[in-house]
Amino acid sequence: MIGGTGALGAALAWRLARAGETVVIGSRSAASAQAKAAELGHGLTGAANIDAAAAADIVFVTVPFAAQAGTLADISAVLAGKLVVDTTVPLVPPKVMRVQLPPEGSAAMCARALLGDDVRLVSGFHNVAAHKLAQDIAIECDILVFGDIKDDRAQIVELAGRIGLRGIHGGALVNSAAAEAMTSLLIFINKTYAVDGAGLRVTGDLIA
Ligand SMILES: NC(=O)c1ccc[n+]([C@@H]2O[C@H](COP(=O)([O-])OP(=O)(O)OC[C@H]3O[C@@H](n4cnc5c(N)ncnc54)[C@H](OP(=O)(O)O)[C@@H]3O)[C@@H](O)[C@H]2O)c1
Repeated sequence: MIGGTGALGAALAWRLARAGETVVIGSRSAASAQAKAAELGHGLTGAANIDAAAAADIVFVTVPFAAQAGTLADISAVLAGKLVVDTTVPLVPPKVMRVQLPPEGSAAMCARALLGDDVRLVSGFHNVAAHKLAQDIAIECDILVFGDIKDDRAQIVELAGRIGLRGIHGGALVNSAAAEAMTSLLIFINKTYAVDGAGLRVTGDLIA
C-alpha cells in the first residue's frame, strides 16, 4: 500500500488485512510505515515504499495527485509484471469541488504514461470516502474499476468484494476520467447538503 500511512491507504490496508490478506504499508519513511502498521494491527507490517512495492503482487498507489508522478518514479523499477491499482484523484487545491482533469485526460492516464506497458495497470476506489472505509460499517458506495485488461480488472473487483465492497467493471482505463471527475461533484454534494461522505451506487441488476 504505497502511501499507506494516509487516509485511503490505511483504511484499505486495514480492511484487506482483516480479510486475511498480507499487506505491507508503504511510506517515504519506513519508521512511519511501521508505526502506522502497529497502530492498525491485524498483522500489518510497514516498509519504505520501494520495499513494500517490491514485496507485493498487487501494488496500491494511494498518494495525492501532486505526489503521483514522483511516487511512481520512485517505485517504477520494481513494478514490471505486477498489478498496480492507482487510486489517484486529480484534485487541484484549493478548488477541489471543480473538475480539473490533467491534459493526459485523467490521473490513470498519467500513470499509464509514466509506467509504460510492462506494468499491469488498473484504477479505482476514486469515489469512496476513506473515513467510511476505516470503520466497520456497510459501505453504500460502489467501487468502479478501470483497466484495459479484463482479467486484471476482475482481480480487483473480486478483491473489493472480499473487503465488503461492491466492485463494478468500469471498462477501459480511459474511462477512469469519469469516476475521477465525479469525486469533485461528490465533495461539492457533501458540502452543499452536509453529507458525511456521499457515494455512488449503480442501479439495475448487475449480472456479470
Ligand atoms: N481520502 C479519501 O477519502 C479518498 C477517497 C478516494 C480517493 N482518494 C485518493 O486517494 C489518494 C490518497 O488520498 P489520501 O486522502 O489517503 O491522501 P493523504 O492522506 O493526503 O496522503 C497519503 C500519503 O501520501 C504520502 N504523501 C503525501 N504527500 C506526498 C508527497 N509530496 N510526496 C510523496 N508522498 C506523499 C504520505 O505518505 P508518507 O508521508 O508516509 O510517505 C501520505 O500519508 C489521493 O489521490 C486521493 O485523491 C482519497
